[in-house]
Amino acid sequence: MTKKRVGLLVGRERTFPDALIARVAAVSSTVTAEYARVDLTAVDRPPAYDVLVDRISHDVVCYQPVLKLAALAGARVVNNPFWRIADDKAFGTALAARLGVPVPRTYVLPSKSYGEDITPDSLRNLTFPLGWEAMARDAGFPMYLKPHWGGGMRDVYKVRDLDELFRAYDASGRLTMIAQESIEWSAYVRCVVIGKTEVLPLRWDPTLPHHERYVGAERTMPPLDPGLEAVVVEHARTLCRALGYDMNTVEFAIRDGVPYAIDFMNSAPDFEGKFLPPAVFEWIVDRMARLCVELAEREPAPTYRWDALLAGRP
Ligand SMILES: Nc1ncnc2c1ncn2[C@@H]1O[C@H](COP(=O)(O)OP(=O)(O)O)[C@@H](O)[C@H]1O
Ligand SMILES: [Mg+2]
Repeated sequence: MTKKRVGLLVGRERTFPDALIARVAAVSSTVTAEYARVDLTAVDRPPAYDVLVDRISHDVVCYQPVLKLAALAGARVVNNPFWRIADDKAFGTALAARLGVPVPRTYVLPSKSYGEDITPDSLRNLTFPLGWEAMARDAGFPMYLKPHWGGGMRDVYKVRDLDELFRAYDASGRLTMIAQESIEWSAYVRCVVIGKTEVLPLRWDPTLPHHERYVGAERTMPPLDPGLEAVVVEHARTLCRALGYDMNTVEFAIRDGVPYAIDFMNSAPDFEGKFLPPAVFEWIVDRMARLCVELAEREPAPTYRWDALLAGRP
């Protein structure tokens, strides 16, 4: 019997993909995992995997069309490339609010600058002068300015008044930025969420250096209150179901006992072994391996908008 195949698309990371490949081999005799191989891709012959785990297409963008072709050919892709690529922080925030998950007040800003072919005439729909004062009165200071795609904490500014806001905005160039009320938190929680249902809530201190954020938070924050933890876990599930993410981290800033969703579209969360407590790394590898095996063995569920139209065709 030929084994079902899981392919991993990766960047520089080593510890997580190596551990995942080994774990799939350990838990399944019918499924095998390997680093996916991508050549020049004929559109009707994408890499033949039952499951693809995408850890890098946000940075290696040429993998994005390949992943979509693989999905069309029947692969289950983690995370769903169609959903992931459509998401942005402004939309996600609004969706969270509609689902009953508290979020900071958030605005979308027109870009500071544009390409040469965009003239003032091209921007006639924008209302100048823009309503900066009204926004500042509503969202208040301090405020965060950050790119609507997000990722890697790049171009994230915390501003304290209108002057700082304009300085940050002036530096944002052609990016589309959002402005967001700062949640001045007493605790911060990051949930690892696998398969939309398995949730591991962890204290995580974003003010510490990168490699200490999980481990150090056990020093800088008291343990999570169990009632609050249950709420956070439920919100994390709600967000991952709504966004269709099978591999994600979901962050909450806690203010006055209320968990506000801050960053919940981390489609390739950092699973580097040396930055995680060993038990956390083990939990992630275990849940990811089980998810890969389950997806490989399961009939593809209708996930994509053309599924119904293609049903029954060769
Ligand atoms: N509204 C906010 N309130 C409080 N802290 C925030 C807020 N927005 C961002 N932050 C802080 O800035 C960090 C980076 O913002 P985030 O939305 O995670 O951007 P990225 O997608 O680039 O990681 C967060 O981890 C958090 O510590
Ligand atoms: Mg983040």
